[in-house]
Amino acid sequence: MTKTYDIITVPDPVLKQTASAVSAVSADIRKQMDAMLQTMYDAPGIGLAANQVGLLNRVLVMDLRSSEERGYGKADDTGPIFMANPEVIWESEEMSTIEEGCLSIPRQYAEIERPAHVRVRYLDYNGKDAELEASGLLSHCVQHEIDHLNGILFIDYLSTLKRNMILRKVEKLKKQQVL
Ligand code: NI
Repeated sequence: MTKTYDIITVPDPVLKQTASAVSAVSADIRKQMDAMLQTMYDAPGIGLAANQVGLLNRVLVMDLRSSEERGYGKADDTGPIFMANPEVIWESEEMSTIEEGCLSIPRQYAEIERPAHVRVRYLDYNGKDAELEASGLLSHCVQHEIDHLNGILFIDYLSTLKRNMILRKVEKLKKQQVL
């Protein structure tokens, strides 16, 4: 069985920290990617960044095949995507608004506006240079996960009032031991 991690939720400070680049996609990093993917599937979710499992390296995983079940509509069927050191190298002026959620902010959702199309450069599972062109939900997802590596959460795009309301709701759910 693949190892899994515990998912860290707000207001844990590790979610506000910036992750460091990996020097290479080593066997250890690949193991981390596998474990992160399994953790994400178990949650279930469509994306997960290293900060969310308490690791401060620039690694993220995504798989949008289950987006339909998550209520996002059918978005992509490419299967798992593994990224190390992802970097947005181009973004469109056109913007897109989609309702986002986050495994670290359980059961809370908000409409977030981001560039509709992005091009991302990264190291893949085999450590090779790769590029991804993303639109729609995949574009939002990859930008959301890269944000995590920079200590940014989707609620940081909301007003202080809305953000605090969401944080209080999560705190309440934790107290009620619903989470
Ligand atoms: Ni998230």
